Amino acid sequence: MRRKLAAGNWKMNGTKASLAEVAALIAAHPSPKSEVLLCPPATLVAAMATAAAGKIAVGGQDCHMKASGAHTGDIAAEMLADCGASHVILGHSERRADHGESSDMVCAKAAAARAAGLVAVICVGETEAQRDAGETLALVGAQLAGSVPDGATAANTVIAYEPVWAIGTGRTPTLEQIAEVHDFLRAELVARFGTEGEGMRLLYGGSVKPSNATEIFATSNVDGALVGGASLKAADFGAILSAL
Ligand code: G3P
Repeated sequence: MRRKLAAGNWKMNGTKASLAEVAALIAAHPSPKSEVLLCPPATLVAAMATAAAGKIAVGGQDCHMKASGAHTGDIAAEMLADCGASHVILGHSERRADHGESSDMVCAKAAAARAAGLVAVICVGETEAQRDAGETLALVGAQLAGSVPDGATAANTVIAYEPVWAIGTGRTPTLEQIAEVHDFLRAELVARFGTEGEGMRLLYGGSVKPSNATEIFATSNVDGALVGGASLKAADFGAILSAL
């Protein structure tokens, strides 16, 4: 049985004042039945982990593939762990697009995350042009195969399917389209990792909001959500959490 996961990606949003939203979320949902994860900008990881006091999990949005060294501006997985993070998002489409991250790089980062004891939340997803060209399953299959390291387990790996065209646009795939991709990803994970692949959570991400969360969460092989904009406010994220 896979435990549901509500994950929030704050992206490049939030200052110390935003931690009030974390306090409000915890106050409104003191014992959620699902796992809850918030991934703020790196500048807030330590403070959020302190504010969360173990009641919700805290994660980074990226880490370097190396453990330390001359990599100005980068952050090692161990540094995130040292700040109280338990998870790290890897291979988000914004990083693949803005920073040229390949699946090979994401795979190396996931291995670094594992070495530091972090759970990797590995993102895959097609562009609108790729969907229109009928390439969705081939594309996400290749990203999955290339981005998830050998030896990944249900305990240290979460997969997020985020169609690029659904991110921040208010548009979502149909439930049938979500089910098609999630069922495909599940089959790929089971084929490669066996029972561990059966246990890995598959999150949907892309314009999840309180009004569509219930139906998305009822979709085949959807084990939760990776939420962007609607994770910034405790009221919205709390409503999504309640739908799980
Ligand atoms: O990682 C979450 C994400 O990319 C979805 O963003 O704002 O469409 O919920 P949003």
